[in-house]
Amino acid sequence: MKHILVTGGAGFIGSHVVRRFVRKYPEYRIVNLDALTYAGNLENLSDIEGASNYTFVKGDITDYPTVLECICRFGIDTILHLAAESHVDRSIRDPFVFARTNVLGTLSLLEAARKSWKEDYSGKLFYHISTDEVYGSLLPGEAAFSETTKYDPHSPYSASKASSDHFVRAFHDTYGLPVIITNCSNNYGPNQFPEKLIPLFIHHIVHRRPLPVYGRGENVRDWLYVEDHARAIDRIAHRGTSGETYNIGGRNEWTNIELVRLLIRITDRLLHRDQGESLSLIRFVPDRACHDLRYAIDSSKVERELGWFPSVTFEQGLERTVQWYLDHPGWLNRVTSGQYREYYRNTYGE
Ligand code: NAD
Ligand code: TYD
Repeated sequence: MKHILVTGGAGFIGSHVVRRFVRKYPEYRIVNLDALTYAGNLENLSDIEGASNYTFVKGDITDYPTVLECICRFGIDTILHLAAESHVDRSIRDPFVFARTNVLGTLSLLEAARKSWKEDYSGKLFYHISTDEVYGSLLPGEAAFSETTKYDPHSPYSASKASSDHFVRAFHDTYGLPVIITNCSNNYGPNQFPEKLIPLFIHHIVHRRPLPVYGRGENVRDWLYVEDHARAIDRIAHRGTSGETYNIGGRNEWTNIELVRLLIRITDRLLHRDQGESLSLIRFVPDRACHDLRYAIDSSKVERELGWFPSVTFEQGLERTVQWYLDHPGWLNRVTSGQYREYYRNTYGE
């Protein structure tokens, strides 16, 4: 029996992780601690909210007494830490909240784990879910990020995630806390908040709105289907080695403009529009400040040591994703109108 605390389980990746663990491990107890910021949507978990091995706790990870109480009350032995502010553009507009949640929130969880586990670390794990953006930016042709690539964050988001990674390693080195860090590339799939490129652009294509491509669309990202990320987290939480870092990526690099053209091709086809009809929606807009040119992950360590590989090709994953958004117009409407925020009150009566 494991007692797992997932932080940020109402968000995009967290909801896939929570669902996977609740369904696959009925013998585990899964506690989802989430503050329900703008990015948290409990509707993402409506299909498992009645499961007997699942509990939702509304709470902020920066609130140390709440976190400590939660770990003690549920006898938590494993922490899968996903709660974060996650959007680069928001971090450029409002960096403070990124330092607060991503740095201080992670520190509060680390300290609560250390205090509640009282240095009896057998069977315990603090698993921090991080990003490849901590490694900075690559030039075309440069080798992909490995686990030993030097940290070189540029945005307030990546600086805050790099800082939280350093705190996690410091707790391992200083107190012996059993930790694992994974640095993953860009995720896409169902339940992603429509501020990120793929869901935003699907939404705009459907409504024939302009598609704002930053700069010339030459930036490169390495895309991974979210359920493949959740599979990797499952594998690493069970078989990974404490103290280690694993990079997770899709070996799937696309320039933004190529990706947008593929997305248009798939969406136009699924909407029974003329092929290429939505290409006219593309607008090149002023670039994001200090926009990292290229991310690419070398995931050979997790492949070699733990036998994890992506299971979905990009074309399959993207088609599934577009289909999911087309099949769930209500989800998208409630998110864009703000109505999704009422779900918690209506369901939990608070
Ligand atoms: P998200 O923004 O969709 O969800 C974040 C969740 O955290 C939300 O449910 C939100 O309510 C919750 N949260 C935010 N602040 C909180 C706080 N102070 N206390 C408690 N809960 C809080 O994020 P995501 O895209 O699912 O990313 C999850 C994690 O994975 C993040 O740590 C992110 O850095 C990392 N990551 C994301 C990607 C990606 O492409 N999305 C890639 C690699 C790593
Ligand atoms: P995003 O989904 O915000 O992820 P990240 O910045 O963490 O990589 O953006 C993915 C890429 O798409 C990134 O290079 C910025 C670009 N982009 C646009 O060109 N237009 C947009 O409206 C958005 C949101 C992103």
